[in-house]
Amino acid sequence: MDKLRIEGGRRLEGSVRISGAKNMALPAMTAALLTPEPVTLRNVPHVRDVLTMKHLLESMGARVEYQRGEKVVLQAEHLHHRAAPYDLVKMMRASILVLGPLVSRFGHAKVSLPGGCAIGARPINLHIGALEKMGVRIQVAHGYVDASCSRIQGAEITFPTVTVTGTENILMAAALAEGMTVLNNAAREPEVADLAGMLNCMGARIQGAGTSTIRVEGVDRLRGVSHTVIPDRIETGTFLTAALVTHSDIGLEECNLQHVMAVVDKLKEVGAEIDLENANRIRVRGAHSLRAADLTTNPFPGFPTDLQAQYMALMTQAQGVSVITETIFENRFMHALELIRMGADIRIEGNRAVVRGGTHLTGANVIASDLRASASLLLAGLVADGTTVVDRVYHLDRGYERIEEKLTRLGAR
Ligand code: EPZ
Repeated sequence: MDKLRIEGGRRLEGSVRISGAKNMALPAMTAALLTPEPVTLRNVPHVRDVLTMKHLLESMGARVEYQRGEKVVLQAEHLHHRAAPYDLVKMMRASILVLGPLVSRFGHAKVSLPGGCAIGARPINLHIGALEKMGVRIQVAHGYVDASCSRIQGAEITFPTVTVTGTENILMAAALAEGMTVLNNAAREPEVADLAGMLNCMGARIQGAGTSTIRVEGVDRLRGVSHTVIPDRIETGTFLTAALVTHSDIGLEECNLQHVMAVVDKLKEVGAEIDLENANRIRVRGAHSLRAADLTTNPFPGFPTDLQAQYMALMTQAQGVSVITETIFENRFMHALELIRMGADIRIEGNRAVVRGGTHLTGANVIASDLRASASLLLAGLVADGTTVVDRVYHLDRGYERIEEKLTRLGAR
């Protein structure tokens, strides 16, 4: 799918099933590198990034069977290749998540430096610094990270900035390290807690995941496991926003309300009616008129940066002026330029965007720049007058499972 054409102005109705979280499926797949035994993952979303990770792990010699029912079976018994080549890493930065497991189990890894991406430089200096503290010798040359050690050692590590994949990489490295590892200022995202839960079922000894201090007592060996991936909280937030922007009443199935509390609180402030119907079904009704509300993105449990673009699309329709402050990435407002072309009134001032709401959006040809920006252009297209064509939607395919089918089933065109 390379272009999406959306006819605006239609209400949504019915229910949508939320898929498994891409940002948990990816570390869960690399965690399979930590054991020679088979690992079974359920509720894996059928998205491009998961296929890319499959190819990467297979290129090393792991067996990866993708069975259509969102089930993936992986086994990294013998790896003939402990490297992640540039041509795969450039397609998906999360490839860096093989570094910790490879070094920890095999004592060596050669991983291409992920290039920057549209939303920022996104260095991996914190991953590297933490591994060096654990006794790993690291050389960065010719665009590659070459890491080696005899036996990785536990250490006390304090991250100066909260890093999600940095925390995940070190968690996986520490699981097989010699001695105790303490992670301070660790990421508290639900994906980190779910990964820790999976590792503990494999025999790891991890305490405190989900808080900012995590303790890991290294063990000699990890077992295989069968694990179900948590629902995707970003897809959940995207559909909550879609309901509000189209003033619709829809149900979200198989989602986890606890993982989206900051989003629900903010959307209620804007005027949404959101009810928890049971443990994993949310009902959302978009009030007829929405109120503008300021937003600042933060690491979990704050409002996630991955929903900032979708929220901006919503604020173009709210009554009043809202100020959106992006604190995680240095360049995550590209979607604003495209929304302006559709008629939005947005002024960018550094890491703040001032949105004057209540604007009439008209369909236009727009270009997606990153995964979540493309979702915000889709939402704007749902409410704009006329036809919107979103180009380069391969970004969408990376992180949303068949989003056009899900929206069409809800009544979008
Ligand atoms: C994860 O990326 C997610 N990806 C991102 O989702 C998400 O936007 C991000 O966390 C923030 O929540 C996956 O989980 C696969 P970070 P990650 O390390 O781990 C700086 C999506 O749309 N930093 O938490 O790469 C970094 O530049 C993606 O699914 C360093 O300076 O993000 C950023 O400013 C987009 N040095 C901040 O920390 C480092 O070594 C947070 O980055 C690492 C990070």
